[in-house]
Formats: sequence, C-alpha cells, structure tokens
Amino acid sequence: MKRIFSGIQPTGEIHLGNYVGAIRNWVYLTEEYDCIFCVVDYHAITVEYEIDELKKRTLETALILLACGLSPEKCKMFVQSHVREHTELAWIFNCVTPIGELERMTQFKDKSRQHRANINIGLMGYPVLQAADILVYKAGYVPVGEDQVQHVELSREVARKFNAKYGDIFPEPQVILSMAPKILGVDGTNKMSKTLNNYIGLLEDKDSMWEKLRTAVTDVNRVRRKDPGNPEVCNVYTIHRAFSPNETLLEIDKGCRTASIGCIDCKKTLFSNMMAELDPIREKAVSLNNNIDYVIDVLKTGADTCRAIAAETMDEVRKTIGLFM
Ligand code: TYM
Repeated sequence: MKRIFSGIQPTGEIHLGNYVGAIRNWVYLTEEYDCIFCVVDYHAITVEYEIDELKKRTLETALILLACGLSPEKCKMFVQSHVREHTELAWIFNCVTPIGELERMTQFKDKSRQHRANINIGLMGYPVLQAADILVYKAGYVPVGEDQVQHVELSREVARKFNAKYGDIFPEPQVILSMAPKILGVDGTNKMSKTLNNYIGLLEDKDSMWEKLRTAVTDVNRVRRKDPGNPEVCNVYTIHRAFSPNETLLEIDKGCRTASIGCIDCKKTLFSNMMAELDPIREKAVSLNNNIDYVIDVLKTGADTCRAIAAETMDEVRKTIGLFM
C-alpha cells in the first residue's frame, strides 16, 4: 500500500481552511493509502507560544482529527515529539540542505516579518524538520493545502541531495491537493489562518461562526444588493463549493450573477449546508472530550507503531552516513 504522511500544528483553533484544505481529504485517503498523521509540536515552538497552552492544544488538535473522522483502525496518529527519530533525521538533513533554499521559503519570509524579535534557526530549519517527518517513513505522498506545496518541494530537494551524496534511500514525495487547497479568510484577501485571526473555527460557538460568515467579504465589486456579483472572485462561493451540492452551486451562481439573491441569502444557504456537515463533528468532539483517555491512548499506540518504522529508517541512515554504531 502506498504511504501517506501529513501533519498539522497545534498552534490554535483548527479552522475551516484546515478542514476542507486538508483534514477532510485525509479521511477519504485513509480508504486507499497507508496513512500517518502527526500533530507537529516541535514545529509549533519555532515561534513565540504559550508554554502552558502547548500540551492542551496538542491534545485538542488530536481530538479534532478524530472528531473529523480519522480513526485508529484506518490510520496511525501521534505527536511528533513522541518519535524522537524525526529530530534526529532533521539534524542529518540539516547537513545536506543549502541555506539559500531555506531563505527563499515564503513561509520563512512571512514568519520572519511577523516575528522580527525571534528569527531563530528552528524557524529557518522548519522545512527541514518537515522533510524529516515525511521521509523518516519514506512516505511517497503528502496531502496538504496549497500553502505547504513549497515545503513539500523542499522535501523532494532534500531527498535528492541526500540520495546523491549517500545512495538511494529516500523517495521524492509528491503533493496531493484537496478540492479546496486554498480557502481565504473572512477578510477575503489573505489565506485563512490561525495567526491572522481571519478564521472560522471548527468548534467555535455557532453564533460566532455565523457572525463571522455574515460579515465575511464577498465580491468587492458587488456594493449594493441589486449589483450583479461574480462568484469566481468570491471566497464565500469557494467555501460553498466545499460544502454545497452541485444544484445549489448552480442556483447560487445564477442568483448571484443576476442579483436575484443577495450575499446574505447566499451565506445563509452556505451556513446551513456547512453546519449539516460540521454538527456531527462538533458533537463527536464533545463526546471525545468526555473520554480524553481514549485520545491519549490512540496517540500512544500511534507513536509506538510509528517509532518502530522510523527506527528502521534511522538504522539504515546511520549505517549509510558512516556513523560508528
Ligand atoms: P498547518 O498546521 O498550518 O495546516 C494544516 C493543514 O491545513 C492546510 N491549510 C489550508 N488549506 C486550505 N486553505 C487554508 N486557508 C489552509 N490553512 C491551512 C495546510 O496546507 C496543511 O495541509 N507545515 C505544516 C505542518 C507539517 C507537515 C509536515 C505537513 C509539519 N510536517 C509534513 C505535511 C507533511 C503546517 O504548518 O500545517
């Protein structure tokens, strides 16, 4: 079975972008692939963070993944720091990764701007650790949103550099994009993100979700209710595509272009379709929260299984690079 690896940071509330851009696709992919999903806590400490919150966020992120439909029967799930081989391989990869490649990473440039007082080596080496996450399992496929494509390309580069120097050990992993690889935030301009506070959280209070959607930016050229709109440039329509059936999409498209419906009508339909899908997830999250030992257990079993796979790769790597064993 072909192997998949993907990860998510425990840095804040999981939002609609994470869900339709990645997690929902992960659930489908578990039917066909040998899947490993990871809560990447070591990535989360590359920027300022609340020390007291990290543990809670890590557990909460895992809980949401389970609530969204990932199951330990169909995939492996664990916390990055529980499998030490990730950071060990990252060190070795540091020694084949040119600094120039890291300096040109868009995320590094963005985060360096956002965190001027703390531009640390870990922030720059972030994609190297990401390459180690993927390659320590020799995963060939990486399902992510569009913002992570550049990092996966770097993983390919790292695999190529390592293989050229030491021999063919690692595959060059390929990206798998979901049907909604880029969801913009409610500002209608920037990618929906935890840091930009332009997101709608999956487990957020329902009134607050509606309030954010109600006021979300749509086609900026549709100023008055009677102006025709263009769904192609409307982020709310992009979210509709992720939640609404085809006939609804056709109706919305026509209604918007002819101004027979207003943006609020469109948003009400979206909210109802969205909540039809999200309500069961939110209910499952509540029940998992009452059974947190189960979540901890899933993570522990996942780490044990993944550690064994990663240890095999590391034995091979240590031998290949000439370490005294
Ligand atoms: P993270 O935690 O930022 O996001 C998790 C997943 O959600 C996707 N995503 C989005 N998709 C569409 N629209 C959006 N607005 C949106 N926002 C987030 C992301 O693309 C991602 O797939 N570096 C990674 C975590 C990571 C990883 C890995 C991923 C660490 N190691 C190895 C794959 C393989 C990250 O920060 O994801």
